[in-house]
Amino acid sequence: MKLLLVGSGGREHALAWKLAQSPLCEKLWIAPGNPGTAAFGENVPIAADALPELVRFAVEQKVELCVIGPEVPLVGGLADLLSEHQIPTFGPRAAAAELEGSKAWCKEVLVRHRVPTAAHRTFVHLAHAQSYLDSGARYPCVVKASGLAAGKGVVICMDRHAARDAVRSMLEGRRFGAAGTTVVIEEFLEGPEASAFCITDGRAFAPFESCMDHKTLLDGGQGPNTGGMGAISPNPEISDRTRALIEKHVFLPTVHGLNHEGHRFQGVLFAGLKLTAGGPKVLEYNVRFGDPECQVLMMRLRSDLLPYLYACATNTLDKLEAPEWDPRPACCVVLAARGYPEAPLKGDLIEGLDDLTTSDTLQVFHSGTALRDGKLVSNGGRVLAVTAVGEDAADARNRAYAACAAIRFEGMQFRRDIGLSALRATEPSGMS
Ligand code: AMP
Ligand code: GLY
Repeated sequence: MKLLLVGSGGREHALAWKLAQSPLCEKLWIAPGNPGTAAFGENVPIAADALPELVRFAVEQKVELCVIGPEVPLVGGLADLLSEHQIPTFGPRAAAAELEGSKAWCKEVLVRHRVPTAAHRTFVHLAHAQSYLDSGARYPCVVKASGLAAGKGVVICMDRHAARDAVRSMLEGRRFGAAGTTVVIEEFLEGPEASAFCITDGRAFAPFESCMDHKTLLDGGQGPNTGGMGAISPNPEISDRTRALIEKHVFLPTVHGLNHEGHRFQGVLFAGLKLTAGGPKVLEYNVRFGDPECQVLMMRLRSDLLPYLYACATNTLDKLEAPEWDPRPACCVVLAARGYPEAPLKGDLIEGLDDLTTSDTLQVFHSGTALRDGKLVSNGGRVLAVTAVGEDAADARNRAYAACAAIRFEGMQFRRDIGLSALRATEPSGMS
């Protein structure tokens, strides 16, 4: 099968690594890819948001499956354009991708189909939002820009003043541009966070393993939010019971609800959850694999990924057995550039990668790298995603951190506590 994978991050490197292992994969193009993906296929210099060029390429090359990694081309309608040419595509159409593209619409879908989520109100007028904050709201509350804001459009507000400032900055100050012209104000939920995934063809769905992301830049949940500084899978907070609850109360009503509304969702549903005392509740939906969650998932997936993605694209997921997973945990540590997340610096020489022996249980996925005069340099905020499988969570962590210690670039920053809270969650009670 001829495949086109769209995107250029660590997520796409992990997908390319996994897809290239499939005996069904005859040819893999990655648009635009990165120096890491080039080892598993052919990079094509077409940007992930250059939709007409991507479609033209897919048609010319007779691509048989297009896998769309990032949210921007999904929300922009790449799957719709490809379907006009009968090219099977893993990734939802624009209307269904609004689950991520519009938090306001996502909340409406969740409420309509009784999927547990935080109580919320949506506003477009500053005066209405402020009068709600003055009278009806409880604190802390969470103010969110409705549109795509690369994970930065969420402000947790401890009091009325902070919330008034946040809505003003979005609705009046245009802090997030068009993404913030509608705001969602929602109840603050308490509990551990989890990332849950299922792939679906719109009718059948196959749950994937769970993960724990680490969103803040610094250890212990400190510093600004980022795209994700590391992940561990499985998420030890998700018991078998919680997993069953997520399938029954989150994924099932969402997939079926969207199907009944005519927004059939094909692709991966990524639920950001809070595991509250009242059960799992959805914080947000993404319509793509998480980054760096994808890296740990691909390392643990034992089954061939390609038949699953193809089945989602061709409405045949019910014909496949559930995928098989390595029971051993995986840990991913992101190495970020100096200045990340505000203003990452580029062009720093990366050293040490050649000394590492990679294997099925240790991979260094490229996120923001480039080749300059034949040398590997940093080229984005998140530079590398060092991912290891271990006998237990502690071993996975140790192996990932040992590999990090071998890699150097100017200003390299990374968290030292990836997976640590997961480790604590699995310790028998009584241990400190
Ligand atoms: P989101 O992009 O909606 O997932 O929000 C980003 C982060 O903000 C989440 O990972 C949570 O840590 C936090 N957050 C978002 N919504 C809430 C909420 N309703 N209650 C508590 N924390 C939240
Ligand atoms: N790691 C979070 C995300 O991909 O949205």
